[in-house]
Amino acid sequence: MSANKGQFERGYQPPIQHQTPPGTQETLDPAPLTESIPTPDGGSQLYKPANKLQGRKALITGGDSGIGRATATLFAMEGADVYIVYLPDEESDAQETKQLVEKYNQRCSLHATDLRDKMNCHDVVEEALKALGEINILFNNHAYQMVQKDISVLSEEQWEKTFVTNVHPFFYLAKYTLPHMKPGDVIINNASINAYIGRPDLLDYTSTKGAIVSFTRGLSNQYVSKGIRVNAVAPGPVWTPLIAATMDTESKKEFTSLMGRPGQPSEIATCVVFLASMDSSLLSGQVIHANGGVIVNG
Ligand SMILES: NC(=O)c1ccc[n+]([C@@H]2O[C@H](COP(=O)([O-])OP(=O)(O)OC[C@H]3O[C@@H](n4cnc5c(N)ncnc54)[C@H](O)[C@@H]3O)[C@@H](O)[C@H]2O)c1
Repeated sequence: MSANKGQFERGYQPPIQHQTPPGTQETLDPAPLTESIPTPDGGSQLYKPANKLQGRKALITGGDSGIGRATATLFAMEGADVYIVYLPDEESDAQETKQLVEKYNQRCSLHATDLRDKMNCHDVVEEALKALGEINILFNNHAYQMVQKDISVLSEEQWEKTFVTNVHPFFYLAKYTLPHMKPGDVIINNASINAYIGRPDLLDYTSTKGAIVSFTRGLSNQYVSKGIRVNAVAPGPVWTPLIAATMDTESKKEFTSLMGRPGQPSEIATCVVFLASMDSSLLSGQVIHANGGVIVNG
């Protein structure tokens, strides 16, 4: 371990710290990397945009922190306006994301709400359409998880909360947004490596991520012929507030990848930019495995 190492260097391990869910980026130390991407020597450089999302409008859930914040920022660097959704407790993180987006001369609208209520999902889409004029990119990104070692201690309440949080809003937001989408628009869902490796201490979360992969495939098969592409990313370990707020000490000690370090939010955001842009024009129903080198089936 290596507090002295840069976060992209092999052997880097973030210091163990605990937060209460949902966790905040404001108090995470060190700050996860949002705008910088790795150089071959383990250093970092500012992401280089190329007008890939000029004039596009994006709705991002969980956009206040972590992967959602990095995606909002890279989208802005690429020329998109964004509308971010988050829980009310995360207002200060959301304000920080807004500042980052505005630094790149794009608009960022904020909407604090609990997406477990389908009426809130409905309102989010209506308000986003008013603020943005249209929605070209829907990034379903928010999630809840909490480590429980065994099914015997995983409560019925947690099982239901995880599904109601992670799966139902993906369906409602897609259902309410699609009637307003046109050919060239995209939906991107955030899954997880855990859907592919069957992580035992996150049984409920892992199951929701499997549902998200299948949802991505089925929805793609409904809409690919209409010119709307639906894809997913399946990150491996990434340094975000979710980790500090939901993993136990043992998991935090082992928080790394085959590359000898955890991922950074910016490294997932580059994949989301790819899926949001016409660079991925031939991909639909697919999953990008940004997981630090684990080979998975599917
Ligand atoms: N960090 C990782 O190691 C990792 C690995 C694989 C997949 N992911 C996925 O990445 C996505 C983003 O997570 P992150 O790691 O950036 O963490 P994060 O804590 O930064 O983001 C999660 C966000 O979800 C939102 N959220 C949770 N419950 C909500 C609710 N009921 N209503 C509205 N918003 C709600 C919150 O705004 C929260 O900020 C999640 O889908 C997660 O499963 C993360």
